[in-house]
Amino acid sequence: MNFKEELEKKTGEVETILAEYLPKQEGFQGKVLEAMGYAVSAGGKRLRPLLMRESADLFGETAEGLPCFMAALEFIHTYSLIHDDLPALDNDDYRRGRKTTHVVYGEDIAVIAGDGLLNYAYETALRAFEKAVTIEDYQRTERALKILGRKAGVYGMVGGQCADLLAEKPETEVTEEMLLYIHRNKTAALIQAAMMIGAVLAGADDKAVELMERCAENIGIAFQIQDDILDVTSSLEVLGKPTGSDEKNHKLTYVTMHGLEESKRQVAALSEEAVGILKGFSHRNAFLETLVEQLIYREK
Ligand code: FPP
Ligand code: MG
Repeated sequence: MNFKEELEKKTGEVETILAEYLPKQEGFQGKVLEAMGYAVSAGGKRLRPLLMRESADLFGETAEGLPCFMAALEFIHTYSLIHDDLPALDNDDYRRGRKTTHVVYGEDIAVIAGDGLLNYAYETALRAFEKAVTIEDYQRTERALKILGRKAGVYGMVGGQCADLLAEKPETEVTEEMLLYIHRNKTAALIQAAMMIGAVLAGADDKAVELMERCAENIGIAFQIQDDILDVTSSLEVLGKPTGSDEKNHKLTYVTMHGLEESKRQVAALSEEAVGILKGFSHRNAFLETLVEQLIYREK
């Protein structure tokens, strides 16, 4: 199987897990469940669950609770996209080539679809305890939950989103330090959660989990810079969402600060270091190494 076929197969497996864990669309809350399903089924790259599973494979052992965390993380990622696209935030009508949730279901339902997904994510992650057998399983699940809460919350993605919103205000003077804080938290934090949780559930030691945290930070920052590059160089047809939105929103990005060429150089350096970390572990995962490179240099 070549990389592309393997990626398709593994992405398909993630889709199966997501379908299994998504709640049934019924009852008086049927509308919000439908909106949650719409957003999750919009078909993203499933990068975070993929990274989680591959990071676990790097450390050998398969954990029964892993799929619960894979679904939980994708639900959190999806909620963040629903809220990010809202008129009060980025006001984007398209995402992943489809109308955004608020455009289809209205702003009111979109807000609570995000809330619903965030809460349901933790319900889903907690189900990993039901699959725990040994005391180590329980301890690893607890540790994974702490990482999930931390990296998704105010000391992670939400914190990064806050700084990002402030950075857009004309009175804010955006420094390079602030920009890095935004990338590290808004984007890298969930990638860190993916790779650290995968490692933790597979029994990696503290040192290895720390290395995964650093590796994922590089991937996240490179991924975000690439996102900013694509916002300048790509098109709606390729990307599935409007380009030029950073400029439209007068957004200061790594690209506006350093220019395209320096941004591309930075992406290459970060990616090289990230892959270097992966290559340093005693077990190699060639698929993961290629996945990281492809994600960073993606065209959409
Ligand atoms: C695209 O991911 C998403 C990012 C680059 C991260 C953006 C971060 C936010 C929008 C944070 C928002 C936070 C709050 C609290 C509202 P992707 O390319 O993996 O998307 P895909 O799943 O569509 O492939
Ligand atoms: Mg946005």
